[in-house]
Amino acid sequence: MYYGQGKNSARRARWYKSVGNTANQLSLPPMQGLQEQIKLHEAEINSFQPKDAAELEAYRIKYLGTKGIVKQIFGEMRNVPNDQKKEAGQLLNSFKLLAEAKYEEFSSLQSATAGKGPAIDVTLPGTPIPMGTRHPLRMVENQIVSIFEKIGFSVATGPEIEDDWHNFTSLNMPEHHPARDMQDTFYVSQNPDWVLRTHTSSVQSRIMEEGNLPVRVICPGRVYRNETISARAHCFFHQCEGLYIDKDVSFADLKQTLYYFVTEMFGEGTKVRFRPSYFPFTEPSAEMDISCTVCSGSGCSLCKHTGWVEILGCGMVHPNMLRNFNIDPEVYTGFAFGMGVERITQIKFQVNDLRLYSQNDVRFLRQFESLP
Ligand code: DAH
Repeated sequence: MYYGQGKNSARRARWYKSVGNTANQLSLPPMQGLQEQIKLHEAEINSFQPKDAAELEAYRIKYLGTKGIVKQIFGEMRNVPNDQKKEAGQLLNSFKLLAEAKYEEFSSLQSATAGKGPAIDVTLPGTPIPMGTRHPLRMVENQIVSIFEKIGFSVATGPEIEDDWHNFTSLNMPEHHPARDMQDTFYVSQNPDWVLRTHTSSVQSRIMEEGNLPVRVICPGRVYRNETISARAHCFFHQCEGLYIDKDVSFADLKQTLYYFVTEMFGEGTKVRFRPSYFPFTEPSAEMDISCTVCSGSGCSLCKHTGWVEILGCGMVHPNMLRNFNIDPEVYTGFAFGMGVERITQIKFQVNDLRLYSQNDVRFLRQFESLP
């Protein structure tokens, strides 16, 4: 039986028309007809170069879809005489593989549009991740540290959870000493000997304990006190401690070192003054004020109309402290100072509410973005 002669000839004719071939019109025998069909499609497949995913998809539907050409030609197997079926099967299989291979070759076009979302255009600029900025307290702390580093101080740090000895007793503040009341802190309930350190002076103790003399350190860090949070007080804040121990260190060295610091931090012409004070770990002790950086002495709210703002406590290291760490006060003397980083930052940037530093409000933090 030849093409065009069987009972399905009308259907086959329609199909040949749909795939654009004229083999049936030639009334070729089935095997030869198949070969002709395949040859024509192979030529088209070989030259196919899809430009985009849409063209590739159209190809897939045309050749590999459920009503595609590959399926249809396979359907023709029925008409091939039995003794030629094996040969026809091999022919059809290699045609199918060719059609599939072409699709695979360009499948990367398809994966670009895979999923339901829009295609990814890798050439588009990315979504910007906004850069943060250094916290003003960190900026000022860095500045304090680098000012002291320039004159030979190195940085030392200590733990924020301290024991009573390093935070109080070794600093000449034994239990029941009234000075402890000024620095109420948080205690750790499992161990009454542990406290959140109330000041960075505890690092002084740890450095002296190491016993490497001479000592010239600057110790920045966070400290804690049991305070009700308000514009002027907080339960945690930051300090920078300084300690200098060597032979022949005098109060004049202390004054000159702090004067150098003030000039670097607040500018040439800033005046300093020392007022006698009391700290258990220094003798003599003093508070240091600087001339008001806002009104230069004429009176404003920062200096409470006095023309002066207090910036730190200082003094000569108490002989008892030196003895506590087996340092002979007849041979060695030293000075120490401690300043609040929030206080220095407040003076520099006129921030008048301490709470702003820890509220993480970007409107506040962004104001420091342009600073080095
Ligand atoms: N530790 C003191 C405080 O927190 C500050 C201080 C004063 C530190 C005098 C010192 C110093 O080293 O000499 O109030």
